[in-house]
Amino acid sequence: MDDVQQDRLATLRSIPLFASCPPDDLAGIAASLESVHAAGGETIFREGDPGDVMYIIAAGKVRIVASGRAQETVAELGPGDFFGEMALITGLPRSAGAVAVTDARLWRLEKGRFDAMIRAYPPLSIEMGRVLSGRVRRMGRLTRVGRDLAGRTAIVTGASKGIGVEIAKALAAEGCNLVLTARSAGKLDEVRREVEAMGVRVLVVPTDVGNRADLQSLVVRAMTEFGAIDVLVNNAGQLLTLAYQKVHPHEMDEMVRVNLTGPMFLSWLVLPGMLERGAGHVVNIASVAGKYGPPYNEIYAATKAGLMGFSQSFRASYRDAGVSASVVCPGFVKSGMYARTQRAGLKAPRALGTTTADAVAAAVVRAVKEDVAEIMVSPGLVRMLMALPTLLPGVAEWGRRRLGTDDLYRKAAEIKAQRRAEAAG
Ligand SMILES: NC(=O)c1ccc[n+]([C@@H]2O[C@H](COP(=O)([O-])OP(=O)(O)OC[C@H]3O[C@@H](n4cnc5c(N)ncnc54)[C@H](OP(=O)(O)O)[C@@H]3O)[C@@H](O)[C@H]2O)c1
Repeated sequence: MDDVQQDRLATLRSIPLFASCPPDDLAGIAASLESVHAAGGETIFREGDPGDVMYIIAAGKVRIVASGRAQETVAELGPGDFFGEMALITGLPRSAGAVAVTDARLWRLEKGRFDAMIRAYPPLSIEMGRVLSGRVRRMGRLTRVGRDLAGRTAIVTGASKGIGVEIAKALAAEGCNLVLTARSAGKLDEVRREVEAMGVRVLVVPTDVGNRADLQSLVVRAMTEFGAIDVLVNNAGQLLTLAYQKVHPHEMDEMVRVNLTGPMFLSWLVLPGMLERGAGHVVNIASVAGKYGPPYNEIYAATKAGLMGFSQSFRASYRDAGVSASVVCPGFVKSGMYARTQRAGLKAPRALGTTTADAVAAAVVRAVKEDVAEIMVSPGLVRMLMALPTLLPGVAEWGRRRLGTDDLYRKAAEIKAQRRAEAAG
């Protein structure tokens, strides 16, 4: 290894941002850095320039200057800081310029290499979020999440259809900027147009919640676009009502990834930034099925029960540090996945009643504003029945059969099995 390469490697090793990269990979990144000098007063890039490289400061000082009046200084950066990253991720032209304050020695990293790094090392995206949040905090822009959501930023997963769309609208009505995610890019764009008309800023990031690399990119894009994430709503979910012995192992894996480990990983990614600012709230959309597992829904019930336990523990751990969590448990909602069951001719027992996506969305907003641990969104009888499995388990089972819920799920499982057999020919 020659002296220049040694020097680059030493610079990278001294930067916390790269501490997580394995030594071999770090050597690869170091080899792809290009050394650049900027004289004091020299413009490194201007607002509107394409975002095709990232810079790491090896020595000297750089000022980030924002658009608009009188070239306002957004941040002054020194050795170990990086800049130019936002435009790299968003693909948009740069929204601020960079000027060397003193003579500066910089390392340039190309966009392709940067993208690969972000996808490859989860801690890298976290560290990047932490650094960016720290900058925002130093600029004094943020305080604890509370009653006023105006100007905050929320990620909503599963925002392409069903309940997620109403959650996005309810948060927008509070003045919250939004990062909308799901797999269906086209549908997300439709929701974006609707929500933007409410006067908030919206970023759409098509994401598979079951894919960790996608989630890492999502968080970095959100952080770089908005500077910080105040609220995360883990709403995306999948339902499979089917006799358990007919479930494929890959379906088990996928549902656990989307309904449970995806939300847990996404919370893990946003947590360091929230702790850095002492402000943040995670809302997990579980289900009454997580409180009392219905028949033919083994995986769904297990993931939703897991999500409830995760929320309770997360809340207990971080609330004193200004970061909280809530779990919202809807019953039968008139839209979304239950509505599709209805289209197959199945109806929830009258006595249990239904609720609306609007009511779930209102519960999400209340959970954040009033910091409520758990909200069950369902008519009163369901809420009462949900106390029975703990107090009187035998009565709970008897009641569920009498009310006809077991029959509803059995029929739904039969329909699913029949459709699957027809599809298989
Ligand atoms: N509807 C109800 O009666 C009810 C009751 C209790 C709880 N819930 C819960 O409420 C939440 C929303 O349900 P919903 O009724 O609105 O369901 P839905 O209409 O089926 O919508 C589910 C959302 O999750 C997204 N999604 C699914 N798999 C994904 C993946 N791998 N990656 C990213 N996004 C994914 C979907 O978008 P793409 O397909 O575009 O990816 C969609 O936006 C779920 O967590 C559900 O368990 C619903």
